[in-house]
Amino acid sequence: MKTVIGFNGSPRPLGNTGRLVKAVLGGAEAAGAKARYVHLAALKFSDCTACMGCRSQPACIQPDDLSKVVQDIFHADAIVLGSPVYMWQVTGLTKLFMDRLYPVLGPDYATRLTRKPKLVLAFTQGHPDGAYFRPYFEQTKAVLGFLGFTVTDIVTAVGTRASDDIEKQPEALALARAAGARLV
Ligand SMILES: Cc1cc2nc3c(=O)[nH]c(=O)nc-3n(C[C@H](O)[C@H](O)[C@H](O)COP(=O)(O)O)c2cc1C
Repeated sequence: MKTVIGFNGSPRPLGNTGRLVKAVLGGAEAAGAKARYVHLAALKFSDCTACMGCRSQPACIQPDDLSKVVQDIFHADAIVLGSPVYMWQVTGLTKLFMDRLYPVLGPDYATRLTRKPKLVLAFTQGHPDGAYFRPYFEQTKAVLGFLGFTVTDIVTAVGTRASDDIEKQPEALALARAAGARLV
């Protein structure tokens, strides 16, 4: 059975991004995968300290929750990474998570992700124009591709402000479920 881990980088436990990530996971589960949902804000973890421990081993030596999660990523078949747009970028929480993915790169900057896990990016934004942050989403896709993930879809919900605004966008949730099914 394929395993999929979905990360929500919003401070809101179940806002629009959490719902979008869960829709992707739901699509993966319906296609036969085992899904796990992780709210990053519920984990205890710190910034990358640039100790460079992960240059000589494929692991982070910080004794916190995220080091364990990074090991799970090595064994996962697919990942979902969700973030709201904050100041035209991912949230600080999501950036911190991405920095802590440094162990997936070797000292030569080649990926250590032998499984090349599939990955869906899930973004939500308050701005109603879906084209606005597209270059940034593509840049984020390129970064994750460089890290060794196979980015299969970028799913978005726009104009989301109140925590459950996305529920009024069944088409966005349907696209997210379809992207989840493609992960399997
Ligand atoms: C600090 C902060 C910064 C934000 N910056 C942007 C932004 O630059 N562009 C935008 O479209 N929306 C911005 N938003 C709105 C959120 O992206 C939007 O409401 C999102 O759907 C929230 O996701 P959540 O419900 O999962 O928390 C910002 C919200 C906050 C709290």
